[in-house]
Amino acid sequence: MDVRKLLFIIGLCSFIFIPSFCRFISWKNKKVTLLSTLETRNCFVSYVNVGNNRYLVKQKKENRKQIAVVRDALAAYIAKNLKIAHLVDIIAYNISFPGKIHHNWPATIHTIAPGETVRKQRGSKYNALRLKQLWAHASTFEQKGLTRQIINHMTWHKQLPIIIALDLLIGNSDRHCGNLCYDPETDSFCAIDMDDTFNKDLCEIAYKKLFIMLNDPKIVFTSEEITAFVQLRKTLMYLLSHYESRHMIKKMYYFAKKTGFVSGSSLYTPSIEKKLTTYAETITQSWISARKLVKVLETIIKINNKKILGVEDYAWSI
Ligand SMILES: Nc1ncnc2c1ncn2[C@@H]1O[C@H](COP(=O)(O)OP(=O)(O)O)[C@@H](O)[C@H]1O
Ligand SMILES: [Mg+2]
Repeated sequence: MDVRKLLFIIGLCSFIFIPSFCRFISWKNKKVTLLSTLETRNCFVSYVNVGNNRYLVKQKKENRKQIAVVRDALAAYIAKNLKIAHLVDIIAYNISFPGKIHHNWPATIHTIAPGETVRKQRGSKYNALRLKQLWAHASTFEQKGLTRQIINHMTWHKQLPIIIALDLLIGNSDRHCGNLCYDPETDSFCAIDMDDTFNKDLCEIAYKKLFIMLNDPKIVFTSEEITAFVQLRKTLMYLLSHYESRHMIKKMYYFAKKTGFVSGSSLYTPSIEKKLTTYAETITQSWISARKLVKVLETIIKINNKKILGVEDYAWSI
């Protein structure tokens, strides 16, 4: 067949089929069965089968927390190419779906993370992981954000600096052991529950703390920590180049609209409008701070690579 004809057919096929691949889950014309529902302090969590695949449906218990679906979906969208997080889609407020306890509220539908939360894996060394970047509950600057302990724990697995980079950019201060799954069979992590996000600038805190550490002669980073910093920086640079703040904000309003938070809808209160504006401002601010963070990481990596290699000329790959 003529090559041009073949390319035309391929182009036509992708035009027809790509839209259906854009959503990671389509429940149209598929049988959806509710398997079970459990309650956590803040949510209803239901397991459902859609066709032959299993998913999880999550709904907040409190009406005033419904905006969390937008944060959860946006965070998962930003994480989607990093291979360290579940996928999340929105079920709008006016769509009936098995597992939606409040039928007129929105919910999220998630792919199931392989393995189990590290909190439940008592025999695993990862049960002792402490990656949560404290914010509101930190009483001192020392305890806030990216601590020396988190830097050290990032070295425990090659995926952890990637998860920390994501948490920094999205402002996630809830990465405790119950929000991180680990699958021993594949030796891989999967980040879940990213709805305490986009409301604080963790990059600014990390930048300030690393700047202080850089200038403190008592602080010596190990070669494993420098390797983790290289991955952290590389991931931040990837995220900054693929998700400019304007892109993230546009996507946030897209998810808000998909949920039902649009002007004219009863869901779209002045408080919701204000929250979305605040998230947009924080996204812009965090993006700027993340660039400063990349710079300070670069300096730390340079200085330490010189120390490790003992030469002036060095190279590291990103
Ligand atoms: N994508 C997922 N894959 C597997 N389990 C999940 C997933 N999302 C949530 N869970 C399970 O549901 C629990 C509660 O969900 P989570 O999103 O952490 O909500 P919250 O902490 O606000 O109650 C988690 O601790 C985990 O056990
Ligand atoms: Mg949780």
